[in-house]
Amino acid sequence: MKELIEKINKLKKRKKAVILAHCYQNVEIDEVADFVGDSLYLSQMAEKTDAEIIVFAGVYFMAQTAKILNPGKKVILPNLKAGCDMADMINLAQLREFKQKYPNIPTVCYINSTAEVKAECDICCTSSNAVKIVKSLNAPKVLFLPDKNLGRWVETQLQNVEVITYNGYCPIHNDLSAEEIKETKNKYPNAIVLAHPECQEKFLEEADFVGSTTGIMNYVKNRNEKEFIIATEKGVTDRLKRDYPGKQFYSVYDKPAICKSMKLISLMDIYNALNTETPEITVDEKISKEAFKCINRMLEVSANGAAK
Ligand code: 13P
Ligand code: SF4
Repeated sequence: MKELIEKINKLKKRKKAVILAHCYQNVEIDEVADFVGDSLYLSQMAEKTDAEIIVFAGVYFMAQTAKILNPGKKVILPNLKAGCDMADMINLAQLREFKQKYPNIPTVCYINSTAEVKAECDICCTSSNAVKIVKSLNAPKVLFLPDKNLGRWVETQLQNVEVITYNGYCPIHNDLSAEEIKETKNKYPNAIVLAHPECQEKFLEEADFVGSTTGIMNYVKNRNEKEFIIATEKGVTDRLKRDYPGKQFYSVYDKPAICKSMKLISLMDIYNALNTETPEITVDEKISKEAFKCINRMLEVSANGAAK
């Protein structure tokens, strides 16, 4: 493995490439990644990079977002089978139907959505800025898609905003039940519960902190407590165990939550992708221009304040 890591790092330098990795990826990917983090951080890094090639160790919508932000650059997803079940829960026809049912209401899409869907939404958000984005619209009602759980959580964090949610969800987080977390808390009474907002409302009521993957990792970094129940995908728990050997991390019901798509990319896939500069992500120009507005609006609000 050490040899392969060295080969990738050399090739990356020679090709002026950058490797962005989501923190649900297999943990060894960090050895070759330039940036590791949550969806917002990776979009910000994709927007800023001056590399000629972006290799995305993540899922399809993430690489697609990087391409939309960098139409002139080569964006590569080392395994094209790495999709997102939640993003696939809403297509353009379903989005139009949803909007027709509730006309003239601003539409917020989670970044876990396709370029076609983003192109017909007003603004995008990630789990770490969803509250700020919805608030910035200054609207009494918003449509939120595809994640009903994130939308519901946003509503609980804001006063006087009705969040009308589409019926999508992340199967990995949605499967974590309130009963399971209650039992896990009984088993580890000193542990603090850190949960991702893609979990169901009843589950989140049992959490001490709700945040994005990076939010969860920063919480552990900044606290003195020694025991944590991590309610998100295994990649986060694996990184926490690696970085804080003196602390204890438990999974809900002692059963690690795994996103199979996120685990599809291997170091060998990254080497082959860099070597052959494939599989390349392309986005239709017209869709890309519209989706860019939706993503860029989010990046502007994230950096400043109100939506323009
Ligand atoms: P964040 O990266 O915003 O924490 O979201 C997690 C996720 O499910 C990405 O697919
Ligand atoms: Fe999609 Fe859920 Fe996997 Fe994230 S964890 S990529 S939301 S299926």
